[in-house]
Amino acid sequence: MCGIVGYIGHREAYPVIIKGLRRLEYRGYDSAGVVLYDGSDLTLCKTKGKVSDLEEKAAKEISTNGKIGIGHTRWATHGVPNDVNSHPHFSNSGNLVIVHNGIIENYEPLKKELIKRGYTFQSDTDTEVLVNLIEDVKKKENLKLGKAVQVALNQVVGAYAIAVFDKERPGEIVAARLGSPLAIGVGKDEFFVASDASPFIEYTSNAIYLEDEEMAIVRLNKPLKIRKIKDDSLVDPYIQELQMNLEQIEKGGYDHFMLKEIYEQPSVIKDTYRGRLHANEGLIKMAGIEDNLQKFLNADRILIIACGTSWHAGLVAEYIFEEFARIPVEVEYASEFRYRNPIIRPTDVVIAISQSGETADTLAAIKLAKQHGAFVFGVCNVVGSSISRETDAGAYTHAGPEIGVASTKAFTTQITVLTLIALRLAQAKGTMNNSDFHRYLQELEIIPEKVAEALMTNDAAQAIAAIYKDAPNCLYLGRGYNFPVALEGALKLKEISYIHAEGYPAAEMKHGPIALIDEQMPVVIIAQKQEHYDKIVSNIQEIKSRSGKIIAVVTKGDVQVRDLADHVIEVPDTSDALSPLLTTIPLQLLSYHIAVMRGCNVDQPRNLAKSVTVE
Ligand code: AGP
Ligand code: GLU
Repeated sequence: MCGIVGYIGHREAYPVIIKGLRRLEYRGYDSAGVVLYDGSDLTLCKTKGKVSDLEEKAAKEISTNGKIGIGHTRWATHGVPNDVNSHPHFSNSGNLVIVHNGIIENYEPLKKELIKRGYTFQSDTDTEVLVNLIEDVKKKENLKLGKAVQVALNQVVGAYAIAVFDKERPGEIVAARLGSPLAIGVGKDEFFVASDASPFIEYTSNAIYLEDEEMAIVRLNKPLKIRKIKDDSLVDPYIQELQMNLEQIEKGGYDHFMLKEIYEQPSVIKDTYRGRLHANEGLIKMAGIEDNLQKFLNADRILIIACGTSWHAGLVAEYIFEEFARIPVEVEYASEFRYRNPIIRPTDVVIAISQSGETADTLAAIKLAKQHGAFVFGVCNVVGSSISRETDAGAYTHAGPEIGVASTKAFTTQITVLTLIALRLAQAKGTMNNSDFHRYLQELEIIPEKVAEALMTNDAAQAIAAIYKDAPNCLYLGRGYNFPVALEGALKLKEISYIHAEGYPAAEMKHGPIALIDEQMPVVIIAQKQEHYDKIVSNIQEIKSRSGKIIAVVTKGDVQVRDLADHVIEVPDTSDALSPLLTTIPLQLLSYHIAVMRGCNVDQPRNLAKSVTVE
């Protein structure tokens, strides 16, 4: 995720771009930059930090004249947040400049080829490769910018929303998108290009949303041209008049960031395995794992340390790693681990999971593990965060900024990364046969579509929420892979609706919790058609015989549980190991709707912070 703003028109570009970047800062905020064209030359200003840091630097360092410009607020994926890796990026000639949202999967082979042709690179980003690829195509085939962009993008694998400017052809901005959003604001004698409409809604409500694999050449006093990137064919522009206000645009039309982030899960899971999962070739490519494969293969055990939702992702990983790779796993609350004088051996591999990469307890636990000589691997969502810098190696989730305090897309993208790691280790250790390995890769590749289908349970979840929104307590039960999902579902409910909820292994009911069951106790039970299904059906019968109210998350088409439960929510079938990616979805939606119905502050629940950087 990041924020892109481009402007060409009769106004001074700088104020439009800066205000637009401030509005897009929720999409990424680790660095920011702007390039302005004053009629003869390009002026660049960019910096690590927020848009306010860019404004401060620009005020000191540049003239902000110019009626054309492009700007960017970054959410790094390739190259840590620093001045050099900030966008915009120039081509070697200094004539082309680009801003980019997304991931160029094949940037490494493209970079190697461009280096062979004499190109040099200042940054570690995939974006700088793209602008030089466009320049290379433009020079070799003597093309105008638009055509060069179109030809170059046909060599690119990945996701992008870009705005490109050519100093030698200053009357236009070229925009293109695949997988990342891009909107064009159509004003009177002016055009805007942006990641969403928030930067231009105050100037014009006429917008064109580019579709995937479309590009636009935006020229003043010329009709806007939209083309298909694949074959350069023309597309009739569809200009819509927006009715949304600024706040609605920032939330993508959703009422809360949390709901927006719940619905982003199909695309961010895809972004997270992009470039890593190659199902057709039967390959998993993760540099952080390949470079340290022996450490993992020689590990006597894997210690997973995390907090909160990330700790729940670690519990799912315990089941996955032990089943797939047969490596013993222990999952620890970082806050306990750091203080209990744990036994840590140099043969231990530690995996630290953190969305923010700034959780104090997790950071302290990492330092303790490293003091004992353990190898520490990080799974973080924020590039360049403290934890990502403290760990010996790592793999990022590509969930984009998670604004809602309640973690949702971080959880499913963490499980995605951890599943990829477990599969790669299973392949390397030979603990999984080839056909199972390929089957898991194929199933993981289609998981985003199944998550999208699971999101269609929203209305069912909302209807159930209306019935139980005033329940004083709630019990969440699950078995196997879905026991951690029960814990996660309970955490979601308690942290945003303030209803007391607890998760339990379903089989533990008879060791105490069943005493809680009566007609006042709603019980959310994950009853997927998977191993021990019959046992979970017995748990449901035990609850029913004590008048408990049963809300069951079942596999699509289930009839047995449907006859027993008070409410069922169906999610698509998948393998046991991947089922948490689907079963968690209705639980996220259920807690969201209950919190909304209770008038709670869903995005900023009381007493909570998004990142717990204190003990
Ligand atoms: C989960 O919804 C909460 N926001 C919280 O439990 C969170 O998961 C925990 O604080 C860990 O945060 P981290 O992943 O950024 O380290
Ligand atoms: N992949 C590019 C980078 O890391 C763009 C990231 C973004 O979408 O902000 O710079």
